[in-house]
Amino acid sequence: MVKIKSVYVCSNCGNDSPKWLGKCPVCGEWNTYVEEIINKEKSSAKSGLHIFDTTKAKPLLLKDVQTGEEPRIDLHDGELNRVLGGGLVPGSLVLIGGEPGIGKSTLILQTVLGLNGIKTLYISGEESARQLKLRADRINSNSENCFIVCETNLEQIFVHIQNLNPEFVIIDSIQTVFTDAVESSPGSVSQVRECSAAILKFAKETNTPVVLIGHINKEGSIAGPKVLEHIVDTVLQFEGDQHYMYRILRSIKNRFGSTAELGIYEMRQNGLREVSNPSELLLTQNHEGLSGVSISAAIEGIRPFLIETQALVSTAAYGTPQRSATGFDLRRMNMLLAVLEKRAGFKLIQKDVFLNIAGGLKVNDPGMDLSVISAVLSSSLDISIEKHVCMTGEVGLSGEIRPVNRIEQRILEAEKLGFSKILVPQNNLKGFTSKVNIEIIQVRKVEEAFRQLFG
Ligand code: TYD
Ligand code: MG
Repeated sequence: MVKIKSVYVCSNCGNDSPKWLGKCPVCGEWNTYVEEIINKEKSSAKSGLHIFDTTKAKPLLLKDVQTGEEPRIDLHDGELNRVLGGGLVPGSLVLIGGEPGIGKSTLILQTVLGLNGIKTLYISGEESARQLKLRADRINSNSENCFIVCETNLEQIFVHIQNLNPEFVIIDSIQTVFTDAVESSPGSVSQVRECSAAILKFAKETNTPVVLIGHINKEGSIAGPKVLEHIVDTVLQFEGDQHYMYRILRSIKNRFGSTAELGIYEMRQNGLREVSNPSELLLTQNHEGLSGVSISAAIEGIRPFLIETQALVSTAAYGTPQRSATGFDLRRMNMLLAVLEKRAGFKLIQKDVFLNIAGGLKVNDPGMDLSVISAVLSSSLDISIEKHVCMTGEVGLSGEIRPVNRIEQRILEAEKLGFSKILVPQNNLKGFTSKVNIEIIQVRKVEEAFRQLFG
């Protein structure tokens, strides 16, 4: 009788151990070990899985390697093309992660349907062909070249690929695919690792681009071992708040482009719509005369946009004042409140502070500091900030306003949207020569900024 051997694998980092462990000694995570059965005989026969021969590769001198512009496949989606670094690279393996229901399948299906002339195979392990058809009808575009197959067995998937010979392959999702070479259940660490390695091999050897859709776990990282992120060429994260329409596509890793890129979409009844000018959407409200609102000229990735920061300050009713921030780092907000206490006599201990970045976006740009601090003070004083004023600047611990990156882009975006005044950090304008039709006010300390805003 064959003895069943099992091993415990950390679902966070992929480390294995013969015994169950409460805490992973490698990555330090708790309660991540899961049991997996290993089948020695089958895994030694695993090489039979790779139906593409490997003897083609020959060592080359690095100097003889041909370079030049990577050919790119135009996906007919400006945002997606940009996030990928100018289009999809043939032979690349792209992973798209995101929360359930955020729109990963919609984004990919919509892209595939818009690609006329490229034979695509959409392998769905989650939905039936009928469900996919319903979604395609909703998106309202039909392509002649999109094939659908509902299959989760990797060996069968390769058979379909061999029969059809597609130019582009989608796997929705990698966590549902399993190979016979590994005994554990689909979605387990070893399954995900083996399957994605085999798919990578296929992509590289046949020069076919493959997009994998991946689930994310409750911490927000892509489920399965970190090795999955190491294996693929590009990792994109699709994020957004379910209650808002906006979705952000962020590049986390990209072997063929910058990770500073960002795509913005709006979820509509009939699919996702590219948002090429985010500021206009984020600034639709007229906030004239309302206190606690300030506009920041922010940058996410490398895109400038103007975004509304809202704050509400009220008298604390209980012993511990409440602090809450949506779309902004709470610790950073607390630091800014401490600066405000020191510089503007704001009595921290007696106030509840609520902060909200409009549109459900999360912004990590330090240039938001000045508008956060101004919105809080505006609400606290109950004096509104003029409608046509925006600002940018990082606030230091001693209340100094520090320079931010890409100042020209921020100023030009503010000008384009019709703002008449922008507050910027002093000494940030070196090399800025453009003639602009907006009043630029340089401020060195928060006090100066407050004097400009509130008189
Ligand atoms: P889906 O692509 O299934 O998400 P994921 O694959 O990331 O789990 O997106 C499903 C959500 O998107 C669902 O809640 C309905 C919504 N949706 C629209 O609002 N408009 C549309 O045209 C489509 C196709 C979906
Ligand atoms: Mg899906």
